[in-house]
Amino acid sequence: MAGKVVLTGIKPTGIPHIGNYFGAIRPALGLADNFEARYFIADYHALNSVQDSATMRDYTYQIAATWIACGLDPKKVLLYRQSDVPETFELSTFLMAFTAKGLMNRAHAYKDAFSKNLEKGVDQDHEINMGLFTYPVLMAADILLFDTDLVPVGRDQKQHIEIACDIAQRINHNYGAELLRVPQPVISSTLDLIPGLDGRKMSKSYGNTIPLWLSSKELRKLLMKITTNSQGVEEVKDPDTCNIFALFKLFSTEEQQAELAARYRVGGLGWGHAKQALFEVVDAHLAPMREKYDALIADKAALDAILDEGASRARVISAATMGRLRKAAGLGR
Ligand code: ADP
Ligand code: TRP
Repeated sequence: MAGKVVLTGIKPTGIPHIGNYFGAIRPALGLADNFEARYFIADYHALNSVQDSATMRDYTYQIAATWIACGLDPKKVLLYRQSDVPETFELSTFLMAFTAKGLMNRAHAYKDAFSKNLEKGVDQDHEINMGLFTYPVLMAADILLFDTDLVPVGRDQKQHIEIACDIAQRINHNYGAELLRVPQPVISSTLDLIPGLDGRKMSKSYGNTIPLWLSSKELRKLLMKITTNSQGVEEVKDPDTCNIFALFKLFSTEEQQAELAARYRVGGLGWGHAKQALFEVVDAHLAPMREKYDALIADKAALDAILDEGASRARVISAATMGRLRKAAGLGR
């Protein structure tokens, strides 16, 4: 598989959390060791919901600093802002002509918003902008512009990759040439469901996240808020159905897990103790990365330089793809 291209994007819609880290960032960094990696900040996708300029800027820097603090080497991996690659938007318009409207009607984010409106009895298009409706086309442009083979994403994004494949195949078929590379999703199934503070899937939309870059003190305070049942200290507890233990597993060795599981099973371990054990492993894991993150986020000029450099390298590739398509389609000279 050498020479294959792996690409993914993260929307700047909030401070990244532990679910994003294990479900998206780490698997993508693992793939970057073996493939040519292109990772970007999907700020135009975020624009559908983040419509305040200072917030957009802050979130964008936070995602960039997060990638690097978690181990991305910008010399090896192409790291750029989506908005710095104008060919994305040209390709997006190109793709529109080959995208069936019915395909968009069936895309899950739009369909969910639409059915929620019906349930609520409000207008069916209430708060649905065209950015949400055409979201999968912009995402297809992100992917197809960069000759992508593999797209690591969460399960919820699989449909979007299938849409990208569908559009690419239509274009290739229409012009009778392999103009666009047809991508495939890489889904990290085991890590798809990191639980949040309340035991449901960790998600910004549930307000149950553990953000990556809290101070030790804030982190401890937050972990103490994890929902538990009302079992007393002396009662024997089951690690396998415990939310605290599920999180602990992500940050610990098998030995540490066996040791904590044994303490659950003999009794005498209160939820406060389990949370403290969790805090210790999470903090130990995050502390060195947090230090890097804090330094990166304090130097916006350095982050800008990295993103600018990424964008100029990215544009060599995107211009080539767009040139190929324009020529094939008889657009321009
Ligand atoms: P959120 O649900 O907090 O808005 P996003 O939808 O922005 O998160 O997710 C960004 C990436 O992180 C996606 O690839 C997604 O699959 C992954 N991800 C988010 N939450 C989790 C989770 N709880 N467990 C595993 N992966 C997750
Ligand atoms: N839609 C993705 C998400 O919500 C983010 C994204 C935008 C993306 N463009 C992409 C992911 C291209 C992979 C490839 O998580």
